[in-house]
Formats: sequence, structure tokens, C-alpha cells
Amino acid sequence: MTRPADRTTNRWDADSYDGDHSFVFEYGETLVDLLEPEAGERILDIGCGTGHLSARIAEAGADVVGIDASEEMIRKARQTHSDCEFARADARSFSFERPFDAVFSNAALHWIPEQDEVLELISDALAPDGRFVAELGGAGNVAAIVDAVSEVAAEHGYDVTNPWHFPTIGEYATRLESHGLETRYATLFDRPTALENGPEGLEKWLSMFGDSLLEPIPEAERSEVITAVEDRLRADRYRDGTWFADYRRLRVVATNSC
Ligand code: BEZ
Repeated sequence: MTRPADRTTNRWDADSYDGDHSFVFEYGETLVDLLEPEAGERILDIGCGTGHLSARIAEAGADVVGIDASEEMIRKARQTHSDCEFARADARSFSFERPFDAVFSNAALHWIPEQDEVLELISDALAPDGRFVAELGGAGNVAAIVDAVSEVAAEHGYDVTNPWHFPTIGEYATRLESHGLETRYATLFDRPTALENGPEGLEKWLSMFGDSLLEPIPEAERSEVITAVEDRLRADRYRDGTWFADYRRLRVVATNSC
């Protein structure tokens, strides 16, 4: 049997992430504005990927530590951004001796089934009154894609379920509160997102991010399944040569009330 933690494992390709999927950190720039980093602050970036947003935060004069579970992402982050410290670490088990003024995370936390473990560590890592600023997929995120994959997979005899955690505002605020984090701001909004690579955009997105979603489908049948998924989604999600993913984002700012 596959454990939940394994289902969210993805094979990360740092070059493809920076090239074809750069929208992930480009959209994250406005999350840095919400963070309002200040000179001298110590800030932790969880799921920093190749470190672009860590570097953006460091431009304000903050001391930034970026962590990511992928060795490949951390290697590339270190090569590219010498102004930050990077460490390979799992969001479910990290620890630092000195507290942080803020914890930041963009498009990473929905990969982790153990939400309570992560939020407890975030709360522990924050200084009193420290802030947690995050964006993740929210309830309904990429639902059209997940539903289409799940329907086509069922026709092939496979049971595909959403491997990600996309909470509602209510669910997340309650969870934050149970870890001593007081929600000061929360919003859930649609962000239809144009995918790179023209007609191949959806296939490339699935190959970058979809390992855990497609996991029940044997490799030999995936290409046929993806073609059928494209046929199912084309009328609604393909326009003028570009695929649009039905992203929906949850943004929160919470403060450490412990
Ligand atoms: C997201 O950022 O919302 C996301 C990315 C890849 C897979 C699932 C969700």
C-alpha cells in the first residue's frame, strides 16, 4: 500500500521548473509584497524551490533561510542565489535554534498531507508575534483537471483521487488557530493560469506536477489517458493555442499568538 506521504512525492526537475513553469514564482512576487519583509528580519521560506522568492525577500535586506525537500532544487538555489542560505529539509521535520520573524511559503504546503505537523513546526519556529504568510492551492484548485483525470482513469479501471490538500478558508483558519496562529487575513480567489508550451501545455504540466495524481495509472497507459483528458478539457480550458489551468489560491496571513 502507498502511504500518503509517498503519494505526494514528485520528481522535481529544477530546470523545467524555472523554464516552463516559472509562473509559480512569478505569481508569488505579490505574496512577497504581502509579507512586507524588512531589513534585518530573519525569514524562513518553506518549499523555496530554486530560491527565486527567497532572493526577492532578501532584496529588502532580510536574512533568508530557504528550505526544500528536493536536493535538486536546493542545489540550483545555491548556485543561483548567493545572498540567501539554503538547506535541504522536510517541512514535516525541520528545526532551527534561532526563531524567525516570519515564515513564508508559496505553492508548497498543499503537497503535504501532514498539515498539523507542518503548522506546529511553523508555530514553534516563529518568534512571539512573528507572522506566517502563505499561498497554497485552495478548495476547488485544479478541480477540472483532477476530475477529468479521475473520470478517464475510471474508464480504464483505475481509481484516481486528489493527492493534494486544498483547504477552504474556514478549515485552514481553524487549523491555524489550533496551532496558536491567529488569522489576520485570508482570501480564496480564482487564478486561471496560462500554461507554457502551447498545445503540449497540459501534458507538460501533468508531467511536471502530476506524478502523484497519475500514480495509479501504469506508465504504459498514461499517454492514452492524457490524450483523453485533453479531449475532455479542450472546449473549456484551451483557447487560441494555450491551455489554462483552473488554479484557485488560498492566501493567509497569521500571527503567532503563543
Ligand atoms: C498549485 O500550485 O496549486 C499546484 C501545482 C501543482 C499541482 C497541484 C497544485
